[in-house]
Amino acid sequence: MNELVGLILAAGKGTRMKSKLPKVLHKVAGKAMVERVLEAAQSVGAQRNVVIVGFGGDDVKAYLGDRAEYVTQLEQKGTGHAVQQAESVLGNHEGLILLLCGDTPLVTQQTLEQLLAHHKETGAAATVLTAYMDNPYGYGRIIRNEAKSVERIVEEKDGTLDELKVHEVNTGMYIFNSKELWPCLEQLSDDNAQGELYITDVVSILVKAGKTVSAYMTMDSDESLGVNSRLQLAQAELILRNRTNLALMEAGVTLVDPHSTYIAPEVVVGPDTIIYPNTTLEGNTVVGTNNILGPNTRLSNVTVGDNNHIHDSYAHDCEIKNDTVIGPFVHLRPDTVLSDKVKIGNFVEVKNSVVGEGTKFPHLSYIGDSDVGSKVNIGCGTITVNYDGKKKHRTTIEDKVFVGCNSNLVAPVTVGSESYVAAGSTITKDVPSRALAFGRARQVVKENWVTEDTFKK
Ligand code: UD1
Ligand code: CA
Repeated sequence: MNELVGLILAAGKGTRMKSKLPKVLHKVAGKAMVERVLEAAQSVGAQRNVVIVGFGGDDVKAYLGDRAEYVTQLEQKGTGHAVQQAESVLGNHEGLILLLCGDTPLVTQQTLEQLLAHHKETGAAATVLTAYMDNPYGYGRIIRNEAKSVERIVEEKDGTLDELKVHEVNTGMYIFNSKELWPCLEQLSDDNAQGELYITDVVSILVKAGKTVSAYMTMDSDESLGVNSRLQLAQAELILRNRTNLALMEAGVTLVDPHSTYIAPEVVVGPDTIIYPNTTLEGNTVVGTNNILGPNTRLSNVTVGDNNHIHDSYAHDCEIKNDTVIGPFVHLRPDTVLSDKVKIGNFVEVKNSVVGEGTKFPHLSYIGDSDVGSKVNIGCGTITVNYDGKKKHRTTIEDKVFVGCNSNLVAPVTVGSESYVAAGSTITKDVPSRALAFGRARQVVKENWVTEDTFKK
């Protein structure tokens, strides 16, 4: 059996982050770092994944849920000590262990596949993923012997001046043959600058026992960025953003200014969509083709069809079909579905509503908990009065209704198809189809109310 299991170290506090949140839960492009690492392990076939938790462990477990198994490391005595904790669940595993750190969120499926292939080809007991870094400061250095084979890894704090000149670093990602790993862990010692058990010492232990340790160097050193500080968190964010933007441009999406365009790597955008600056697409967002998005627009968990123009607006957890015009200053809230050719403009909020084809809410409206038909025109300032202080009620506006400006529709209420609501009405009763409803005081005119006396001092 050559089954691969993932083992992810995520127990550390991340002291250098100066945070109450465990380091691995800090987000890069909208997802916790440890989640990105877990997904990388899954992407190369690790169906079973064990996460070592400690500081903030309950939070990590709650975040990842049943996507992983958990082992607690009560005291954080180093990466080697963390791996020792996993022996209780993986000690009998026959196959390969992909060991990853929860703070290296940029690693890709492709690189891990290459690491695995290299490990299988060389038949080594362990393979370390290494990278060449112009500035290797802070990383463990790969020390090779005269024959250029890997001999050991030395940490920044333990290295001699000569050793620290080495630019090949340990990325903290490894493949181990499970059977070879566990006996070595018994031999780890904390006789080092940090007084910790280092997993990196397994390399020299294996080599001394006459086993082969192989190294596979990734060409993209960005992938191995380990996030230990807020600065590195921002660097990770930037690298991932650039990677995502580049892939989108290569796939036919125009980014007017990639430097101010924030798209999560999971987001899908179809070709010939043009994205203007200061636009954020995040979460489970899928955008079709030939749309114009932004500037100043945020879409979070939104499904967008084709040929829409959405600018200066915020939408979340909703669906926008095709050929719509949205913005400026529109807020689309959860469970809203906009059909084709809808137009929503200036200062309009829509929540939990289904809006039919060709319908328009052009200005200053709140439409909540509503079922709106097709070709409806909602006049400026119209409000669905959906909340009585205790419960929410629905408003139904059927096809081709015309609602005059500044009207209140007090739910539950139905406005029948092809009917008209006079401007300034407060509608509390259902309006039948093709009716005209007034719900306002009659205008009173007092003629000649103004006299010459009105103008005297
Ligand atoms: C580690 C490596 C270093 C490598 C670097 C790559 C060791 C000794 N050093 O250093 O060679 O270049 O990663 O990024 O392994 N953790 C635990 N329990 C602990 C300690 C750490 O679970 O007791 C976890 C942390 O949560 C973190 C990961 O292990 O996700 C790495 O620990 P960290 O302290 O960041 O190691 P580095 O100093 O970066
Ligand atoms: Ca680290």
